[in-house]
Amino acid sequence: MFVGAIALAVVSVAATSQVVDPMNTRSDDVVGLRKAAMWAINTEFAAMRAASSDGDLEAAKSSALSLSVLAGVLPLLFEEEHADAYPFGESRFRYEAGDSAVFLRHASAQQSAASATADASSMRDVDIRAIGGSCAACHTAFRRR
Ligand code: HEC
Repeated sequence: MFVGAIALAVVSVAATSQVVDPMNTRSDDVVGLRKAAMWAINTEFAAMRAASSDGDLEAAKSSALSLSVLAGVLPLLFEEEHADAYPFGESRFRYEAGDSAVFLRHASAQQSAASATADASSMRDVDIRAIGGSCAACHTAFRRR
């Protein structure tokens, strides 16, 4: 949870600063931020699932709130393909650009599914399936090995 909060803060600050000005940024920096955002999302999603199986509603809601904020940052990090930055580090994955309206739709799907869980009033409203479905849909469309 603590680690997730730090990752979230770093990604949010970087994304709202000059760091991702497309005119001024090296592809490596943008792709590094993408990877950081995805790992922050991955950490929060794992934390949300763990909290859900522990019956800890407040912790699940807090991770869901982080997921919704991170989803809001994604479109900014995937405006350009930056194909020259791949392969990146140890990662097997890359971004294949496509219809940006479709990307936005997948990011919005994660944002609204995560916001709904962040507003949950009982464990029954914690919708792991909807959030997980938004990950898978976007990966199928835009993530390649
Ligand atoms: C709107 C699109 C979108 C959504 C939503 C999304 N992802 Fe991703 N994800 C991507 C793309 C594109 C990549 C490949 C990025 C790259 O290689 O630069 C990726 C990469 C990753 C990676 C690999 C990072 C690496 O080191 O290469 C992980 C892990 C990951 N996503 C987890 C998740 C999880 C978990 C969720 C849902 C809770 C999620 N993602 C939601 C688009 C998305």
